[in-house]
Amino acid sequence: MISDEEPGYDLDLFCVPNHCAEDLDKVFISHGLLLDRTEKLARDVMEDMGGHHTVALCVPKAGHTFFADLLDCIKAPNRNSDRFIPMTSYCNDQSTGAIKVTGGDNLSTLAGKKVLIVEDIIDMGKTMQTLLSLVQQHKPKMVEVASLLVKRTPRSIGHRPDFVGFEIPNKFVVWYALDYNEYLRNLNHVCVISETGKAKYKSEAE
Ligand code: HPA
Ligand code: MG
Repeated sequence: MISDEEPGYDLDLFCVPNHCAEDLDKVFISHGLLLDRTEKLARDVMEDMGGHHTVALCVPKAGHTFFADLLDCIKAPNRNSDRFIPMTSYCNDQSTGAIKVTGGDNLSTLAGKKVLIVEDIIDMGKTMQTLLSLVQQHKPKMVEVASLLVKRTPRSIGHRPDFVGFEIPNKFVVWYALDYNEYLRNLNHVCVISETGKAKYKSEAE
């Protein structure tokens, strides 16, 4: 759990691409810490679900780096036990929670399986709620959710994942998977966006 008072780290203590330095306030969670925590989450998942015959579902596009890192750790002792079905929350307005399964696979193959849904960040929790009810309709044996980050926000509908990397304050963060209007994805560390960054990449649609 990262407290509301956590000041983060000055950008010049870490390698941050020069071109986006002014768009960021602080490094909030360093890449090394993310990877170390991910390794432990993978162990927790394996203990809880068993490494075998678990289907991991990635919620792209933001979730894919955490997904890849997590599955790297889970897969090592359990080769050939995992596969994943790509899906997307296809509207850029995250509050709609609209989910579409992409690719040839479909969710009926989840019947009787142990399913792990992997997400990068849970904010309000609406997308996850929609996804969970979609998956449950296909009668899996078990469904669990792993999210690298969970935000403490008054807008939360109260969903709590089974595996949480870090609980963070109600700040807008960016990272190589987490974007702000599709910008600032190319970072290794979870960073807090600056007011300059927010203004620069503000969506015309708002
Ligand atoms: N960063 C990126 N994407 C998000 C966030 C955030 O803080 N909250 C919800 N989606
Ligand atoms: Mg996501």
